[in-house]
Amino acid sequence: MKLAIFGGGQLGRMLALAALPLDVRCQFLDPVEAPCAAAAGRHIRGDYEDPAALEAFAQGADSATYEFENVPVAAVEHVARLIPAAPGAVSLACAQDRGHEKQLFEDLDIAVAPWAEVNDAGSLSQAAATVGLPAVLKTRRFGYDGKGQVVIRGADELDAAWDAVGAQPCVLEAFVPFQREVSMIGVRSREGEIRCYTLTENVHRDGILRRSTPVEGDALQPAAEAALSKVMRALDHVGVMAFEFFVAEGRLLANEIAPRVHNSGHWTIDGAVCSQFENHVRAVLDLPLGETALRQPCVMLNAIGSMPATAELAAIPGVRIHAYGKSARPGRKVGHVTVLGCSTSELRRRLAMLDALIDA
Ligand SMILES: Nc1ncnc2c1ncn2[C@@H]1O[C@H](COP(=O)(O)OP(=O)(O)O)[C@@H](O)[C@H]1O
Ligand SMILES: [Mg+2]
Repeated sequence: MKLAIFGGGQLGRMLALAALPLDVRCQFLDPVEAPCAAAAGRHIRGDYEDPAALEAFAQGADSATYEFENVPVAAVEHVARLIPAAPGAVSLACAQDRGHEKQLFEDLDIAVAPWAEVNDAGSLSQAAATVGLPAVLKTRRFGYDGKGQVVIRGADELDAAWDAVGAQPCVLEAFVPFQREVSMIGVRSREGEIRCYTLTENVHRDGILRRSTPVEGDALQPAAEAALSKVMRALDHVGVMAFEFFVAEGRLLANEIAPRVHNSGHWTIDGAVCSQFENHVRAVLDLPLGETALRQPCVMLNAIGSMPATAELAAIPGVRIHAYGKSARPGRKVGHVTVLGCSTSELRRRLAMLDALIDA
C-alpha cells in the first residue's frame, strides 16, 4: 500500500519508518528542497497550493494524511476528493485556530483556563480585565514551540505584547501556575474504536518540549482519556490525536490538541507495544489498531540544537537513538533519545549518564 503524507519533517520520517514493516510506502509533499523524511520515502517537491503538485502527490496512493497542522485546509480538501484522507479537514481546521479549539473544549464541558478572544488593542485591555493578569497572549494561528506567545504580567505591558505578537487575532489565556504538564495520545479508527496510551508527563523549557515520561497508573489517566475521546468523537477524527493539559490543583485544564502524531508520544516507538506512528498508519489505512500498552518504564529526551555523538549515546545501556538527519541549528529539534530501564532506579542511573550528553 501507499500513503501520501503532507509534510516531510521528522514526524513524516518516523511515520514512514513505522509504515515500511507493514509494506506501506510513503510519499511526501513538501516545498523544501531536502526534507528529512526524504531519506525514508519519496519526496515530491511542490507547493501545498499547487493543484498539479497535489495531484502528483495523490497519484497511486491509497490514502493521504498530514504530519503538521499548518497544511492549508483547502489542500487537504482537494486531495480528499481524489483519495481517502484522514484525519479530515474538520480536525485540521479546529486545531489551526486556538479560539475554535478552546470553544470546542468548553462546548464539550472540558475545563479550560479563563480565556478571551482578542482582535485589536482595545479588546486586549478588555480581555485582560475579564481573564485577569498574569496571562498569556497567543496568536490564534501558526504558533508552535512557544512561538507567537507573550506572557503579560502587568497592565503596562499590554501594548508591547500586542506589538510583539504582530497585532493579529489572538486569545488571551490566564497564566496557569501548573503543578505539571501532561498529554494524552490516542488513536481512533474509521469504525470509531479508540485506544489511548499511558498518560505522559512533559517538561518544557522556553516553550519547547524537553522531556516526556509515561506515568503508569496516574490518577488522571481516566479523565485525560475521557477528554481526548470526547474531542476525537466530536471531530469524527481518524488517526492519532494528542491532547496537552495543565495540571492545577490536581485537576486537568485543557491546553491544546494536535490532530497528528506528537513529540510527547515519541517514547511509544521503544516503550509501547505499537507506536503512535504505526497506529496512525494503521488507522488511516483502515487496518486494525495495535496495542497501546506500555512495555517498560522509559523517558524520552529531545535533542535541541544539535545531536550528541552517536558513539557516546550508544555506550549508555538502554538508550535508543533517533537522529532526524537534520543539520544543527539553535532551537531546532534534531533528534530524540528514549532511555528504557527495568526499574525506576535503573532508569534514573541511565538518565544521570545522559545528563552529560543532552541538556534536557
Ligand atoms: N496559560 C499558560 N500558563 C502557563 N504556561 C503556559 C500557558 N500557556 C502556555 N504555557 C507554556 O508554554 C508552552 C507552550 O504553549 P502551548 O500553548 O502549548 O503552545 P505551542 O505548544 O503550540 O507552542 C506550554 O507547554 C506551557 O509550558
Ligand atoms: Mg503545546
